[in-house]
Formats: sequence, C-alpha cells, structure tokens
Amino acid sequence: MAGTRTFTMIKPDAVEAGSIGGILNMIAEGGFRIVAMKLTQLTVADAKKFYEVHAERPFYGELVEFMSRGPIVAAILEKENAVEDFRTLIGATNPADAAEGTIRKKYAKSIGENAVHGSDSDENAEIEAAFHFAGREQF
Ligand code: TYD
Repeated sequence: MAGTRTFTMIKPDAVEAGSIGGILNMIAEGGFRIVAMKLTQLTVADAKKFYEVHAERPFYGELVEFMSRGPIVAAILEKENAVEDFRTLIGATNPADAAEGTIRKKYAKSIGENAVHGSDSDENAEIEAAFHFAGREQF
C-alpha cells in the first residue's frame, strides 16, 4: 500500500522570488496537510549528501551549489498516496515539460532551478524527512 507521507523543499530560487506563499497555497489546495515545516539552509555538505544518488551525474556540482546558495523551506506533507500525488502536483523536472496547473509550470525557471523537490518513493520520503526533522518536530 502507498504511504501517506512525502517530503518537499521549496528551493532557493523560489524562496528568492518570494514564492513561498504561492507554493504553500497550491500544496494546501492540493489536499496536503503540513506535518512539519521550517525555513533553513543546506550547507554544501548537506546538499552533497541529500543528492548523493546523483554524484556521478554531470549536473551534480551545479545542483549542490544551487541548493546551498540560500534558504529553503523543508516540509513533510501528509495525504493518501502522498508521494505519487505530490509528484503529479509539482510536475515534470524540466518546467518546459510540466503540465498546466503544476507548481513547476508556474514557478520553475529551468531544469536546474525548478522551484520544488518531491520525494520519489515512500522509502526516500522517510529518509529525507528524517534528514531534516526530529520526531518531536513532526505533527
Ligand atoms: P531528478 O531526481 O531527476 O528530478 P526530480 O527533482 O524531478 O525528482 O533530479 C534531481 C534534481 O537535479 C532536479 O530537480 C534538478 C536537478 N537536475 C538538473 O539540474 N539537470 C538535469 O538534467 C536533471 C535530470 C536534474
């Protein structure tokens, strides 16, 4: 059975653009409940670890630099079928391919600076949530 939690980050580009409120509004209207949330900033080491699976990809260096350059909003979200439904709400990695009505269609600038993260599996959602939040910070 699909899990009920996913993990998201509003990335530095969207925070810089003043889009936190607009994105949180789309998340709420998408039927997600906020279980945990904070404004924080990834260190270079944090970003490297978070995106470790992409370490061999050509874009890894830029991705790490981008994700650590300014504040992000980290959050845990709850809904039935959370991982898949949130991936649908955020849209394709490249905003040029993102469907109308998705967060990336509205807020992402490019494939690299694409406004939001959404976990890609229940297992990763759990790992990523634990990376950012202690149990007592989850409601
Ligand atoms: P990926 O996990 O493939 O995408 P998603 O965020 O949609 O799950 O890639 C992680 C991040 O890496 C992606 O959000 C932006 C960055 N990235 C690039 O900068 N260039 C690329 O060609 C790809 C595939 C990803």
